[in-house]
Amino acid sequence: MSTAIEPLGDWQRTHHCGALGSPHIGQRVTLMGWVAKRRDHGGVIFVDLRDRHGITQVVFNPQHNPAAHQKAEDLHSEYVIAVEGLVQARPEGMLNARLATGAIEVNSDTLRVLNTSPPPPFAIDDSTELGEELRLRYRYLDLRRPSMQQNLLLRHRAYQLTRRLLDHLGFMEVETPFLIRSTPEGARDYLVPSRVHPGEFFALPQSPQIYKQILMVAGYDRYFQIVKCFRDEDLRADRQPEFTQIDMEMSFISEKDIMATAEELIGTLFKELIDVELPRPFLQLSYQEAMDRFGSDKPDLRFGLELKDVAAAAKASEFKVLHSVLDAGGQVKGINVKGCATFSRSQLDELIAFAQQLGAKGLSWIKHTPQGLESSIAKFFPAPAQALLTEALASEPGDLLLLVADQPAMVARTLGALRLELARRLELLPAGVWRPLWVTEFPLLEHDAEANRYVAMHHPFTAPLEADVLLLDTQPLAARARAYDLVLNGNEIAGGSIRIFQRPLQSRLFELLSISPEEAAEKFGFLLEALEYGAPPHGGIAFGFDRVIALLAGVDSLREVIAFPKTNKAVGLMENAPGQVDPAQLRELGIQLRP
Ligand code: AMO
Repeated sequence: MSTAIEPLGDWQRTHHCGALGSPHIGQRVTLMGWVAKRRDHGGVIFVDLRDRHGITQVVFNPQHNPAAHQKAEDLHSEYVIAVEGLVQARPEGMLNARLATGAIEVNSDTLRVLNTSPPPPFAIDDSTELGEELRLRYRYLDLRRPSMQQNLLLRHRAYQLTRRLLDHLGFMEVETPFLIRSTPEGARDYLVPSRVHPGEFFALPQSPQIYKQILMVAGYDRYFQIVKCFRDEDLRADRQPEFTQIDMEMSFISEKDIMATAEELIGTLFKELIDVELPRPFLQLSYQEAMDRFGSDKPDLRFGLELKDVAAAAKASEFKVLHSVLDAGGQVKGINVKGCATFSRSQLDELIAFAQQLGAKGLSWIKHTPQGLESSIAKFFPAPAQALLTEALASEPGDLLLLVADQPAMVARTLGALRLELARRLELLPAGVWRPLWVTEFPLLEHDAEANRYVAMHHPFTAPLEADVLLLDTQPLAARARAYDLVLNGNEIAGGSIRIFQRPLQSRLFELLSISPEEAAEKFGFLLEALEYGAPPHGGIAFGFDRVIALLAGVDSLREVIAFPKTNKAVGLMENAPGQVDPAQLRELGIQLRP
C-alpha cells in the first residue's frame, strides 16, 4: 500500500533540526525535515530527522502512541515529514557527543507524511565516495549532503562579509549589463542572438572591465560588484564557463592602494571564515623573478625547489648539447631535490617522461653521492665544472640534481611543472600553510605566433610602466605593465591593473595590437570617447570568487563550491544544458542551422 500523503495544514515548525538541546527538555515541539535514517529497535522506531541545520533523533514508541508508531513503520529515506512531540533527555549511555542535538530526542506522538521519495540513487552522507556524474545529475540530492551545505554556507558568509567590508571602505555596488558588445579578454565569448536586430549578437561579459572603467569616468570612484562572468574556454578543475568575480575599481590611486584594499578583503575572509591570519603585507615578486626562480607566474611558495641557473657549469662542461643550447640563446637550469639521490631508475624515468610530456627534449639527472657525482652525463663534467654545478645548486651528498637545457620558456615550463610534481610526490604541500604573493610587472604584450601579432597579456586597457612607455615604439615586448596578480599557494586568485586613462595612449595600444582605427572605433568607440571627457587616473582588480571559496573550503574543484556547476565539458548534467531549441525560436532570430 502506498503511503498516504497528508497536508501540512496549519502546523508550524517550532525549531530547526539542529536547534534542540538539554535546555529544551520538557518542551513540546514541531519539527519538519527529511528522514535521514529509520531504525527499528525492539519495536521502538528511531528516525534521524534532517534539515540543513542538523539532525534530531525522533522516537516513536508503540506503547505511548500506537497510531504514530504505526505510520512511522512506513517511513523511508528522504520522505518529508512533520512531527510533534516532547523533548526528552536521551537515556543514560545513549548520548551522542558527535551530534549537536545528541543529548536529547523528541518523543513523537503525532506524525504527518508530507511527501515520499523513491530510494535515492546514493546515500545522503559524506562517508560515501560518489562519482561526480551521479552527483551532478542528482544535484538536489547531492546538495543535501552536509559537506555541500557547509561549502555553500561558507560561500554565503563570504558574500555577506565582502559586501559589509567594501561598503565600510566606501565602495558602491553597481550592476553592469550582461547583454553587451564583446570585451575581448583572451577567451571566446558566449554569444546571444538579438531577435529585434536579426543577424546581430550580444556577448555575455567575460568581465565588467569596460563598464567599471566608465563608472570611474562617471565619478563613482570606488565601485564593486559580485558578478557572474562568462568565458567559453577550455575547462579545468579551477575554471568554469560561468564563474563569479568580486570586481573592483578605484580612482585617484596607485598599485599600493589597490593591493592594500585587496589584502584587507582577502585577509578578512580568511580571518573571519577559517580563522587564519594571512601574513601582511603580502610578499611581492616581479614576473621576471617569479619565472626565473620558480618557472611560473603563479608560484607556490610553500616549498623551495627553486630553479638555479647552471650556465657557468654547462659552459665548463664538455657536453656539446649544452653548449649548443647556450649558443642558440637558450638556458641551462636545474633544481636540487634534497635527499633524493636514492630515487630508483624507474622513478627517474617517470620524471623524464613527465618532462617530455610537457614538450621538453629531455631531462638530465645527476646523483650527488658521498663518492661524487653519479650519472650517465657525469663524465662530461670535469672537476671544475662539477664544482660550479654543485655550488650553483648548493648540492650536498644525498641530493638529486635535475637539469633542463632549452629555450627559456620551455625551461621555465618544464622545471616549473616538475617542481610542483616533486612537491606532490614528496608531500611538501602542508595543509594549513598559506603563502600569498603579488606577482607584478608582467610584460604588457606577448607575441601570438599563430596570428603573427601582439596580444595583451592582461587586457588591452592595462597601462605600461611609466618608465617603459617609450619602449612601445622601439621594443614593445620589453615593455612592462602596471599589472598584478594575487597568487595563493600556486593559485591565481585575483588579477588587475592600473588602466590607461588617456585616449592617445589607448589608441596607441590598439594600434600595437593590430586593431585598426576603424575597428577600434567600432568596438571601443564609446570607451575612447569617454576617456576624452575627464577620465581620472584609475585602476582595479577582480578576485576569482569561486577559487577563493574553494581554497577556504579546502577543496580541489570549483564544482564543490558552486551550487549548479558545469562539467568539464561545459554541460549542465541535471538540466541537460545546452540543448536544442524550437525551430520557431530560430526562425524568429533569423538563424538557420547548417546541416
Ligand atoms: P582576470 O581575467 O585575471 O581579470 O580574472 C580575474 C580572476 O578571475 C578568476 N578567473 C576564473 N575563475 C574561474 N573560472 C574561470 N574560467 C576564470 N577565469 C578567471 C581568476 C582571475 O585571477 N577584468 C579583469 C580584472 C581587472 O583587470 O580588474 C579580469 O577579469 O581568479
